[in-house]
Amino acid sequence: MLAVESIVDLRREIALLRRQGKRIAFVPTMGNLHAGHLKLAQIARQHADAVVASIYVNPLQFGPKEDLAAYPRTPEQDKKGLEAEKTDILFMPTDAEMYPRGLDVMTKVEVPALGDILCGQFRPGHFRGVTTVVNRLFNLVQPDVAVFGKKDYQQLMLIKLMVADLGLPIEIVGVDTVREADGLAMSSRNNYLSPAERQTAPKLYATLGRLRDRILKEGAVRPGMEADTARELETAGFRPDYISIRRAADLAEAGPQDKALVILAAAWLGRTRLIDNLEVSVQI
Ligand code: PAF
Repeated sequence: MLAVESIVDLRREIALLRRQGKRIAFVPTMGNLHAGHLKLAQIARQHADAVVASIYVNPLQFGPKEDLAAYPRTPEQDKKGLEAEKTDILFMPTDAEMYPRGLDVMTKVEVPALGDILCGQFRPGHFRGVTTVVNRLFNLVQPDVAVFGKKDYQQLMLIKLMVADLGLPIEIVGVDTVREADGLAMSSRNNYLSPAERQTAPKLYATLGRLRDRILKEGAVRPGMEADTARELETAGFRPDYISIRRAADLAEAGPQDKALVILAAAWLGRTRLIDNLEVSVQI
């Protein structure tokens, strides 16, 4: 695996792969890689001849009171993991390379409406930061296919919309969430949990599972289900930002007539914000 920091070096290596006629898959990450990220690299390999990954902790997607400075950075361990997955190129740009004119004045890419609900409502500007950096990375890497985790369900949908809106010739592949043995979705932010919080954390997924079972039992989404689940989470020790049953296709609020659903949740445990989701298919 070749690790490069500059755009000049990245472009030279990408051009080399192109001259060899290789199809390129791209896995953007913020590092501190766990088994979920490595699965993205594995799936990327199934879709292409060469895999490019990036590690960049993007300041533009962190709010002023969020954990940018504390975000875990483990580059040496990450390199080993990506190498083991036979990644061809690792792009690790600096801030100056990604935002040479400065964060405030660089062009931004925004997907309105879908970017303003759910996590977008609680983290203003977050998704604008995500779509801006992903669009820039796409332009630098110019992949045929890019791979994202379904754990960030709303992010995945926004990137699909951005790609369609901007006419980018990139196939977007979503990969199922990788979980710990107790059900907790893998996330770099799980490192922030205290031992007691780590014991509680799997209850987020378990609670979503109970809501799914209730929807399936009743055969439809009913008023009050989300509020009941929010209360369950509070009783377990979480402070929910939201718990919401949405249409899987467009994340609009789901009603009794909708069958392809996704339950999305964001909830705090102490100072750690966890997100998770669960797709539900109601049989007719
Ligand atoms: O999902 C992430 O790790 C980040 O949001 C991404 C897509 C790498 C953009 O910084």
